[in-house]
Amino acid sequence: MNKITIAIDGFSSTGKSTVAKQLARALGYVYVDTGAMYRAVTFYAMQNGLINKDDFNSEALIYQLPKINITFKFNEALGFAEVYLNDVNIENKVRTLEVSSFVSKVAAVSQVRQKLVEQQQKMCQDKGVVMDGRDIGTVVFPDAELKLFMTASAKTRAERRFLELIERGDKVDYEDVLKNVEERDFLDSNRADSPLLKAKDAIEIDNSHMTLDEQFNKILQLAKMTIEDCE
Ligand code: DC
Repeated sequence: MNKITIAIDGFSSTGKSTVAKQLARALGYVYVDTGAMYRAVTFYAMQNGLINKDDFNSEALIYQLPKINITFKFNEALGFAEVYLNDVNIENKVRTLEVSSFVSKVAAVSQVRQKLVEQQQKMCQDKGVVMDGRDIGTVVFPDAELKLFMTASAKTRAERRFLELIERGDKVDYEDVLKNVEERDFLDSNRADSPLLKAKDAIEIDNSHMTLDEQFNKILQLAKMTIEDCE
């Protein structure tokens, strides 16, 4: 059976990674979470004092980019690949609200994008990949056979994110989570380099009123149809 590339883009907390993981498992494909890569660079910048609430030394970050090595290792128990920064597992550390509050600034730096996009393109040389992010269907894989663009209202997304953070044991305020979701929507959609855009040939999925099962079944069907068309 032919293998295809599946690009899933959309706003933050639209459930892209949930459905991308389900889809990769069902098809026997590799899942790549590109948001985790931008989060890993952000974590590096935080650890090295290059970014804080008031200041972002993007020049120093650009200079230090060659020192940043991001990899993924599959965790059998979890059923997905975790993100590593210079061989240290930082999967849990990159999901905090603090990292979320800085990541859009780091993701707006062209040199950061260039480095990560190059790595993402190499990861998909053999197809059979489900990749999620903001620019996958527009910049990373403009020729992907299936492109999806996920949306849901900001409130629905903030509620989902809030519950996720609370379940992890993080102490967060719903209003702060909503503010972060809205700020990231704005920054990600308005940056100069590779803004979040729906590719012309992407299929839009608004999952505000869909259960996870409904969403998965719909997307799996689309994937199977696309794979058949490519035979
Ligand atoms: O998917 P996520 O919320 O983990 O992504 C974190 C941030 O990284 C998001 O606010 C924008 C940025 N990002 C990006 O600019 N391009 C991508 N392909 C993936 C994420």
